[in-house]
Amino acid sequence: MYKLTTNVDLTAYSTFGVPARAACVVAVNTAEDIEAARVGERFTDQQPLILGAGSNTLFVGDYTGWILHPAVSGISIVEENDDFIWLDAGAGVNWHNLVEYSVSQDWSGIENLALIPGNVGAAPVQNIGAYGMELAQVFAGLKAFDLRQNRIVEFDSSQAEFGYRRSYFKNHPELVILNVVLKLSKKFFPKIQYRGLKEILGDRELTPRTVMEAVIALRRSKLPDTAELGSGGSFFKNPILGKTEIEQLLSEYPQAVVYRNTDGSGKVAAAWLIEQCGWKGVRRGNCGVYDGHALVLVNYGGATGRQIWQLAQDIIHSVEDKLALTLEPEVRIAGGD
Ligand code: EPU
Repeated sequence: MYKLTTNVDLTAYSTFGVPARAACVVAVNTAEDIEAARVGERFTDQQPLILGAGSNTLFVGDYTGWILHPAVSGISIVEENDDFIWLDAGAGVNWHNLVEYSVSQDWSGIENLALIPGNVGAAPVQNIGAYGMELAQVFAGLKAFDLRQNRIVEFDSSQAEFGYRRSYFKNHPELVILNVVLKLSKKFFPKIQYRGLKEILGDRELTPRTVMEAVIALRRSKLPDTAELGSGGSFFKNPILGKTEIEQLLSEYPQAVVYRNTDGSGKVAAAWLIEQCGWKGVRRGNCGVYDGHALVLVNYGGATGRQIWQLAQDIIHSVEDKLALTLEPEVRIAGGD
């Protein structure tokens, strides 16, 4: 059965913890729930805002439409052989709980993605990634409800069009992801190249668990806990630059932090750009730029989404003025229309 709530206070629906209201939130556990809501509720012919755990969405005002919250639960094994295991997880499963479950079974493939806030359903949309791993590497497929066709559709990895924080699903909001299948490995190939991981691990034996624990320690040392301080993780994406742009940047700023591909193109660390413009640790009213990481905008308590968004725009303008590069938000901006 779907669960409908009207005139909802969204403060607890987003990890920024900013005040906003939604006309209506519908929580669903199954495709049948979506179908029932669409038959039973007049407004459901409109496109909803699909909201998981709200860890990547900033509400800049009230949301006048309806919000669909996929709460599909459950983790189960779909298939296995000597080397791999195919694991199905419901869209409403907490992502970190899935990582912990995988590590408890000694399977590998998502241990570097520990402690990423949010639910399983959002993971393929964003192609979540951290510390040298990204979802694309383990994604085997998903099942979604297509609101336009009014039926369940399935995708495999060849259709996902994954890139840096993007996917086919990100451009298709009519797809309500219900279940995601991951292909995890029974053999362990540790990925510990990311700066800082090896140092934390020291001479500990390498297992999925020790790597997960090192990632948790690294994240905790840099990023705020959203339960204590409102935020949405990285607020901006790291800008992707061509070879010439990177060379120009490095000629002016030899110390710029860049990640280069073999062809010379790559990304520049947005945190470095923001820090260059003097924003790290700057507090403005009830919001600010986290003093531990310049890419994270935080709500110190009592900030509105508009205030955080204004701060974000001022940061974008100052990075444009000083470094001639354009930052794009990584978080989704919603409401206020
Ligand atoms: N840096 C600064 N100033 C800072 C922080 C970092 O100059 O205040 C520089 C440092 O040189 C550092 C480099 O930026 O080495 C990279 O920082 P970090 O390792 O924290 O990674 P990031 O590129 O800032 C990305 C993801 C994170 C992910 C980490 C680790 C994006 C937008 N963010 O951040 O993802 O956890 O790599 O892999 O790609 C998220 O998406 O919400 C998120 C937190």
